[in-house]
Amino acid sequence: MEDGWKNCGFQIYRSLKRKDGTEPGKPQLLRSQSFTADTIRKASVQWYKMKWQLTGSANDLWGEEVQGYAVIDAKSPLQGPLEFFRPGKVNQIRVRFFNLSRGDDASDDFRCAFLKFGESESEGPLDLAFSTGRVSCYHSTASLQDFLTALDGDEDCTRDWALRMPNNYYALADGIRRYPKCRTELDYHNYATFTVKTENGNKLVRFRLHGKNDVGSRLSKQEQEEAWIIQRPDIELPMDTYLQQRLRDIAKENLSMKLQVQIRDENENVESVFDPSTEWEETDFPWHDLADIILSYSVPKVSTERAKYDFCSFPAHIEMVTPEGKDNFGSLVHIQEKVLTSSTRKKHKEGELPTGHKETTFLVHVETGNHLFSGTDAGVYIALYGTKGRTKKILLDKLFHNDFERGSKESYYITVPVIGDVKFLQVFLIGGKYTFKREWFLNNIVLMDLTTRKLFEVPVYRWINDKITIPTGEAMLLQKERNSDRKYIRQIWLDERSKIYPWCRQDGLPGCIDIETYDGLPVELKYSTERQIEKKKILADVLIKLKLHKYTTVFQSFDSFEDFKTMSEVVPSSETSNAIKESDRWRTDEEFGREFLAGVNPVMIRRCKEPIQKFPVTNDMVGGLLDRGKTLEEEMKAGHIYYVDYPHMAGIPRNGQLYVTDPIVMFYVRESGVLVPIAIQLSQEPGPNNPVWTANDSELDWLLAKMFVKATDSHYQSIYSHLVQTHFLMEAITLSMHRQLPPNHPLYKLLIQHCLFTVASGQMGRDLLVNGEDSVFSKILAIPGHECDLMRKRFKDFTVNELIMPRAFAERGVDDEKLLPNYHFRDDAMLIWNKLTEYVTKILSLFYKCDKDVADDTELQAFLTDLREHGLRKSAGPPNGLPDKFASLPELVEVTTMIIFHSSCYHAALNFTQLDYFSFGPNYPSCMRRMPPSEKGVTTMQDVIDSLPNKSIQAVCIAFSSYLSEPLSDERYLGDYQDSHFTETEVREILDWFSDEMEKISQSIHKRNLDLDIPYVYLLPERVPKAAGQ
Ligand SMILES: [Fe+2]
Repeated sequence: MEDGWKNCGFQIYRSLKRKDGTEPGKPQLLRSQSFTADTIRKASVQWYKMKWQLTGSANDLWGEEVQGYAVIDAKSPLQGPLEFFRPGKVNQIRVRFFNLSRGDDASDDFRCAFLKFGESESEGPLDLAFSTGRVSCYHSTASLQDFLTALDGDEDCTRDWALRMPNNYYALADGIRRYPKCRTELDYHNYATFTVKTENGNKLVRFRLHGKNDVGSRLSKQEQEEAWIIQRPDIELPMDTYLQQRLRDIAKENLSMKLQVQIRDENENVESVFDPSTEWEETDFPWHDLADIILSYSVPKVSTERAKYDFCSFPAHIEMVTPEGKDNFGSLVHIQEKVLTSSTRKKHKEGELPTGHKETTFLVHVETGNHLFSGTDAGVYIALYGTKGRTKKILLDKLFHNDFERGSKESYYITVPVIGDVKFLQVFLIGGKYTFKREWFLNNIVLMDLTTRKLFEVPVYRWINDKITIPTGEAMLLQKERNSDRKYIRQIWLDERSKIYPWCRQDGLPGCIDIETYDGLPVELKYSTERQIEKKKILADVLIKLKLHKYTTVFQSFDSFEDFKTMSEVVPSSETSNAIKESDRWRTDEEFGREFLAGVNPVMIRRCKEPIQKFPVTNDMVGGLLDRGKTLEEEMKAGHIYYVDYPHMAGIPRNGQLYVTDPIVMFYVRESGVLVPIAIQLSQEPGPNNPVWTANDSELDWLLAKMFVKATDSHYQSIYSHLVQTHFLMEAITLSMHRQLPPNHPLYKLLIQHCLFTVASGQMGRDLLVNGEDSVFSKILAIPGHECDLMRKRFKDFTVNELIMPRAFAERGVDDEKLLPNYHFRDDAMLIWNKLTEYVTKILSLFYKCDKDVADDTELQAFLTDLREHGLRKSAGPPNGLPDKFASLPELVEVTTMIIFHSSCYHAALNFTQLDYFSFGPNYPSCMRRMPPSEKGVTTMQDVIDSLPNKSIQAVCIAFSSYLSEPLSDERYLGDYQDSHFTETEVREILDWFSDEMEKISQSIHKRNLDLDIPYVYLLPERVPKAAGQ
């Protein structure tokens, strides 16, 4: 043989039969009977059709199709009147590869191929059926029946069949291919004999599809000895993707094959010439190249399912020899061709789509996310649902292309029945579960109906693990939805989300998702891989630097404030952190006051309108510190006295070795407008051991009192203002949104970008900062194991008014810029808040035309109810302040603005300040290591130094401040709406307008900052991430 492979079938047959003790049989030739062709068509075809269907073989005619073209060879041996095989002629073709199989696609069996000339799914001018093996396993109707029975049985059944006669064994050894690497490398034979009119007269012809290397998957000598044993590959691949996957994976260039022919003269028309179980010896009848077969594109499954093959119609000048009788060799092939034709038509009928006779083509544009590992190796199928019908699952695939890689933008053409306007679509990932990368981050899909030129956008921006049903892009309120399927899909979507995101009841705290740790989060709520890697790297880098200096393992006090400065320099410094440390600015009252207006926790200060009973500051104590010549009471009334109070810290159990107090601080706004502290009481209850410290006391007494205040503020900031009031609240809001709003709800589209990674950051906060004995808070704060006590105590007093910034500032009495100047957090926050209100109003007004639209939106009301009763449910204290129902658009706008502001600005102001302030211990100690002072005039510098955190505590502080507040490279900032879920032109115009407005606000803040010693940069829109995802 030309490829060196040898069929040992006859030889093995003989040896096995001898071992059996039986005499080897001989090939039998059946003689023609006297049935006519008509009889064959009427009786046998129907019988065999039924038989094939019953054995299941016909059900496997449905494989994978590729399309391309055939170029007729310049030396075409079939030149003549037959235009079809004219040299140089290019024919569009499609080839279907499938198994004549009893197992799945990865088993070893007979491989088959259909070749269709012509590109369409309907009958072409010439269709040919091929199978592996140079000889057929059957040569008569009876042997075909035997073969199909054997194929459908177990291995013993096949063995019996193989040993029934030598030809059977020979054909079995010849035809089986063991899970070939690629179908296009195989040889496929057509067992029919055709007559073709050529310039040299009529010829008898047999066709084959010739692959480049058919040897690899043929049975070895050893395998031929037990050819009936079906072996599986080590890793079994799913039936419906194996072939497609293999074709795609190894195709680096166009797949090519040859269409070849054997030719003999017509006058050799003897019966055995038509015997499909007998090969035409190659030495006598060599194979001639007839055409180059170039395969370029995979055909969508829906098209494969609908393609019709007709093996009984031929171009002029080529025909199949009509058999003389049902047991005539030619009759067998004739029946086979009839059955195959019938089977593909049956499939066509089954695969026909439910509506429409007309077809249309969609251009499908698919954008994969750009995060690490966003791409998928799974087969991606889509099904479209329109106003007039739906399509079946359609494979999106380009044969010579690795589809859906990270960051890719791919286009596909799919031809489907007319389904009207697309209302929603389904995306399925099939295969890749065990052997390939399966999860896929899909950004969006854009569909264009090339007939109607209508565009349908489907923003997704989420991970897909299995399948997803998602409406087309336009935002729509449920009550305005006219399409019943879309209404149904919305409900299905929400039902699924409620199951995926169950509430965990945390008594006295905002609701969170019911999982143990971060690892249990659904993939679509987790951090992106880049984000996880980058955060780990930030932490590793800073820990390495700290370890190099042995800071993390030293439990000694610092020697001096300078020592603290040296340690703080292991992390990058900012203009703010440098200015604080420069010339001991941090020790001044002016800086202490400034930090309560523009520092790490600028949400605590309140106006003091009248004396505070528990904080008995008298005019005598502080009169000399007031520079307007008025009494303390007069200054209170005038709006120049402010205070910060930490009552919730009282009664929280302490560590025993670390200390934190529950102080009250009084501030005064000097005539110059500068805010300074004038009195401090370190505990809530006044008494002889709890004196009021003032700026009139010794410098060290006053400095130590201020340090104790900052240590308490560290606790409040870290545990409540930052973790609870941004992360936990946003986590609850995000969960309510996912559970109650479908992705085509306008509020979902508005909020989703502000909810990115918020559940992940909330859960990570619990895992890392709070839970367990090794938590960060237990290392740096003074109330280990009792952080949640503080959370609950403070959350008990929470109302949403704290989050509605104009009300929050007004309620704290700090909304007057003239009375309390330099409150940059307030000034910048209000600039953005007002613009956000305008922005939210503009967008929501497009969908809510009147207050009734708001009131009638049951999904919106369900969101509010879920948030009120689960997300922000309170077990004690005043109600959370959320309304029972959204009754008007302004109400909805206010809550929406609050959510966006909170996730972006509020979080930015508390998160990205941490490193600037917490990295230098003397200014912002996380805790104190000495009891609070109770006696004036005795504090020494050594007492102060020894009260501050030791090196180990400060090192952890620096490491985690860095981890929590270093900006990440994949962050998207306020005003950047490249990945908007809205598809409406009007909304996009509003987004552009909002981006311009943010730019203007940025310019005004930059301009203001020019006049400041320490610029306030944390609410510059270009530095405010859209979501509290860190
Ligand atoms: Fe944060």
